[in-house]
Amino acid sequence: MPLRFIHCSDIHLLDLAGSSAWQFINKRLTGGVNLLMSRGRKHSGGLFDRIVMHAHEFAVDRLVITGDVTNLALAPEFALVKQKLTDAGVPVTVVPGNHDTYTRGSVRNRRFEAFLGEFMVGERDGADYPFMQRFGDVALIGVSTAIPSLPMVAVGRVGGEQLQRLSGMLERAGSEGLARVVLIHHPVLPGVAKPRHGLLDLDAFSKVIAANGAELILHGHEHRRIEGTLPGPGKPVPVHGVGSGTYLSQETGRQGAFSLYTVAPGAITRVYHWWNGSAFVAEPPAAY
Ligand SMILES: [Fe+2]
Ligand SMILES: [Fe+2]
Repeated sequence: MPLRFIHCSDIHLLDLAGSSAWQFINKRLTGGVNLLMSRGRKHSGGLFDRIVMHAHEFAVDRLVITGDVTNLALAPEFALVKQKLTDAGVPVTVVPGNHDTYTRGSVRNRRFEAFLGEFMVGERDGADYPFMQRFGDVALIGVSTAIPSLPMVAVGRVGGEQLQRLSGMLERAGSEGLARVVLIHHPVLPGVAKPRHGLLDLDAFSKVIAANGAELILHGHEHRRIEGTLPGPGKPVPVHGVGSGTYLSQETGRQGAFSLYTVAPGAITRVYHWWNGSAFVAEPPAAY
């Protein structure tokens, strides 16, 4: 049985109306207020509700979200996200993004994992990441790139130890003939991230993929559509970056977006959907 799922990313959910988030913002969160105000203008949580509606319309098996579910990684934001994902009425898989570990405190308290751990249940090698969720012949493999960083810096890192575990997991799943879908927040293609916005150990990640392969890599972070391939041991591995799920921009390639995937070993199809200001419009299906 193929796995049918929607991939979206960077939903940056925010409830400014009466939001208790304000009281958590302090001076250490440089630019926090500005960030929230600008998010409120540029993103709409209503688009995420529409994505959930489409998930039901397409009768997908899951909704997959590659990070940046919050803005400042505050507890009230995570509470809102948890409620939204629970209310979605469709199983959800998440991985963290840089905004989900915006402060050292949020990392120290493992806030993302504490609130959203139920959406990351899976096989592990003695650490939170990566985790692997099996659905018949398909494996979703969740990687974390989330590290706290200085304000205005949005870099990420997988880290040597996690890369080692990822390598073993990919090898195992590959030898079992599973279709391996790697979920990661930051882009993994060279040269696509903005300055101070990229994956610090991108080369090391690429080497793990080159050695062990994967059938598909999905990411977000840049709030724009990014497509390419990474070398694998056999055929190149498709890499798809999706635009932010809640972005109101009508700039080409940056529109709010989600993708509908059908994945089985040897057969992957995708339908990209983008927001045209009043609806998510579907592009013709593509096979990978
Ligand atoms: Fe983002
Ligand atoms: Fe991000």
